[in-house]
Amino acid sequence: MVHEVLAPGPQQRYDLDANDESLPLLQDLMRRYGDICRVPTQSRPHDGLVIHDADDIRRVLLTNRDNYVKGVGLERVRVLLGNGLIVNDGESWSRQRRMMQPVFHSQVIRGFSSLMRRLNLELIERWAGHAARGEPINLTRELSDLALNIMLHALFSADFDRLIEAEGTSPFDLLTLESRRDLPFAAKFRALTRHVLAMIAARRKEQRIEMDLLSMLMEARDKDSGEAMPDRALLDESMTLIVAGHETTASTLNWTWYLLSQHPEVEARLHEAVAATAPPPAEEPLAENSYVEQVLHEALRMYPPGWLFTRRALGDDRLGGYHVPAGTDIFICPYLLHRHAAHWDRPEEFDPERFVPAAADARHRFAFLPFSAGPRYCIGAAFAMAEMTMHLSMVAQRFRLQYVGNEPPQAEFQINLRTRRDVHMRVVAR
Ligand code: HEM
Repeated sequence: MVHEVLAPGPQQRYDLDANDESLPLLQDLMRRYGDICRVPTQSRPHDGLVIHDADDIRRVLLTNRDNYVKGVGLERVRVLLGNGLIVNDGESWSRQRRMMQPVFHSQVIRGFSSLMRRLNLELIERWAGHAARGEPINLTRELSDLALNIMLHALFSADFDRLIEAEGTSPFDLLTLESRRDLPFAAKFRALTRHVLAMIAARRKEQRIEMDLLSMLMEARDKDSGEAMPDRALLDESMTLIVAGHETTASTLNWTWYLLSQHPEVEARLHEAVAATAPPPAEEPLAENSYVEQVLHEALRMYPPGWLFTRRALGDDRLGGYHVPAGTDIFICPYLLHRHAAHWDRPEEFDPERFVPAAADARHRFAFLPFSAGPRYCIGAAFAMAEMTMHLSMVAQRFRLQYVGNEPPQAEFQINLRTRRDVHMRVVAR
């Protein structure tokens, strides 16, 4: 029957996953089969289906979203994050998302700008020392520390400072000190949950409410039942925010600085833009659609941290004119979508002009998905943009960063798209 024709694809069986081997295969399949390709599975219950067409992606993420749940690859994440928002699904996800949405309201994020400013000022002071001594910085490490500290302070505020005081150092530094995301790491990371449980217990006992994300999560109530989140959910959501909010932003900034160091004309325009807009006072909203934002969007286009994500079809569907049987594992690859000839000219060129409002508005809304789209859109996107714009504006006003190294950094395609090795930069005062 014509309507049951399956999408074309190779004979060879393969379990696609967010790892380095999958990207060359995905590139090859796209060359051979175009925008939709069925990949027979090796060991999973159902075949995979890779989709690159923006309309098909819109159908999966938005218009027919009830037919799709989170897909393969989440087992690894579940070990780390329990049943937090990224992993959760169905009614339980919906309830948690509803309760957490207000926590990421722009007004709340604005409240964190003085924290973001303070931690960036500390970083600038440290980097000024490096500039004076002519000593390069380990940029990757510095940005990882910055993003982690912003997240931990936003979540736990004074309790986080108390923890550092009690332990002599932050036990969460594990996240920046270890780059592998394997099972031994997961075990150590889960051991950190006791600190979070202790903070929750102390706040309950002292009936203490802080101006931070943890207190907002503790105060959130389900609008139907009036119930608060159980401790288990508070814990899983806190751990989720730490992981989801740390590596993604750090990696984007890491790539952004590298790209700027290779494109003096963009760097010069950025300098002009940040000179014109001194960092806004902490209470003021950050300008939208600024050149700073365009630079960040272009870095997110070229190196989207969430470079491959998945869904699973609950019932039969149709995509690209082909039959999609229930159970099919769908793969969406922002890395390839962001280079797709249908939407992008000269895709390997770093050109923030692509994001001037007129150009962005003319593009298919599902051609640029660094934060995904639809109801499972990244809940922290505005937080991330505020944090990254603040960092880039404040630092670019003071310094230029010059890449130290002869070879361009290699990309590592794991759960996140990071540089394979740490990037080192010379800091030059402007
Ligand atoms: C540049 C920075 C970031 C990028 C590129 C990014 C990207 C993404 C993507 C692609 C997804 C969807 C994954 C999927 O559907 O499978 C997602 C979900 C999520 N992100 Fe982000 N993210 C960033 C920053 C943040 C920050 C700062 C936070 C927290 C403060 C955060 C928290 C989350 C959470 C909780 C989800 C799950 C949402 C849900 O399923 O309802 N992210 N992010």
